[in-house]
Amino acid sequence: MLIKPIKRIKQNITIPGDKSISHRAVMLSSIAEGESKIHNFLMGDDCLNTVECFRKMQVPIEITANEVKIKGVGLRGLKKPNRVLDVGNSGTTIRLMCGILAGQDFDCVITGDNSIQNRPMDRIIIPLRQMGSIIEGTERRDHAPLKIQKSELAAIDYNMPVASAQVKSAILLASIYADGTTSVTEIQKSRDHTERMLNYIGADIKQEGLSIFSNPRGKLYAKEIHVPGDISSAAFFLVLGAVAKDAEIMIEGVGLNPTRTGIVDVLKRMGANIKILNKRVLNNEPIGDIHIVGSDLRGTEISGDIIPRLIDEIPVIAVAAALAKGTTTIRNAEELKIKESNRIVAMVTELKKIGADIEETDDGMIIRGKDALQGGTVESYNDHRIAMALAIAGLLSKEGVIINNPHCVDISFPDFFDILDRMIKDES
Ligand code: S3P
Repeated sequence: MLIKPIKRIKQNITIPGDKSISHRAVMLSSIAEGESKIHNFLMGDDCLNTVECFRKMQVPIEITANEVKIKGVGLRGLKKPNRVLDVGNSGTTIRLMCGILAGQDFDCVITGDNSIQNRPMDRIIIPLRQMGSIIEGTERRDHAPLKIQKSELAAIDYNMPVASAQVKSAILLASIYADGTTSVTEIQKSRDHTERMLNYIGADIKQEGLSIFSNPRGKLYAKEIHVPGDISSAAFFLVLGAVAKDAEIMIEGVGLNPTRTGIVDVLKRMGANIKILNKRVLNNEPIGDIHIVGSDLRGTEISGDIIPRLIDEIPVIAVAAALAKGTTTIRNAEELKIKESNRIVAMVTELKKIGADIEETDDGMIIRGKDALQGGTVESYNDHRIAMALAIAGLLSKEGVIINNPHCVDISFPDFFDILDRMIKDES
């Protein structure tokens, strides 16, 4: 995929539905009572894999243009799948579903692609075992494929060792099958879509500081869900709009959950000209429009509590930093090493190839901004966010970039390259 440099950008963009919220909408609607309609569902590979997993457990799910209709089967209505559940590349699907599967009346096996089979699963195995789940790796102890056997679940009080919404959500989903009040305490606040959606459809979840208390009520009630635009996908255009000299971009209907808006805070701190307009709340999630105009950015330090609020945006933030004045230091981001790829290695290696001054550290990277990136040929590591971050770097480079293996963008943003195409056509 050849990405040519772009000079002038004036665009109104709508972004596909939020990946995290789309997954949760399918999972929770499947185990709720009644029919749900999910609007603006993300038709990316990851979320479609979640749909397939629930179809294998005989949940009736109908998909039209960008809407999904689900006839919920209730908490106890899932049926034993007659094949292995396959999540593809989706970490959110496997980790969250293990919470639901732990509470079922049947045994099953869940797995995913090569990347999934190499990502750590002990982080969910440990708390789910404490709740009474019989769960284990069938080939390697802490890795998928995971076998989950029928068992009774008990409530626990769990102190999470890592800031991870996937782990928190797995425990909360198992907690609705347990026999008392479960509490989960985080070390840093991570995205809270599971808590918000559970409460929206009738669960009893309370937040006190960094602790979350879940009181099972025995039933969830299907409701219409409007999925906001994904701020993690908007992030690519926020960086493009912030860095390009002659740019004005308006992105409408983006999720603005404060556990996800670290990218906006960091870009503002770097000097970006960003405005949030038309703020509203949609099914318990804040949303709004984001307007961004190009300006000169300066380097910053990114560490501590903001990291979980922008963990998926760090690859594209690295691109902004590579073209900012001064040095940007990213620390406490070791979780990046165990995403779809090792995102520290991927971004440092590939941005260097196209002319950035960037260095890897134990828990992040140091980027010394330059006036320009030259361009060149880069690898995607089969990781959607790496491919898209490098595409933005290409648009902002002198000579453009060629991205090998770019189709992984289908995981979270299937029309990403079409939007870039339109921008390039509208420029001339
Ligand atoms: C997600 C949580 C985050 C994030 C991932 C989606 C979720 O992962 O990186 O893309 O939907 O809960 P961790 O829980 O591993 O931090």
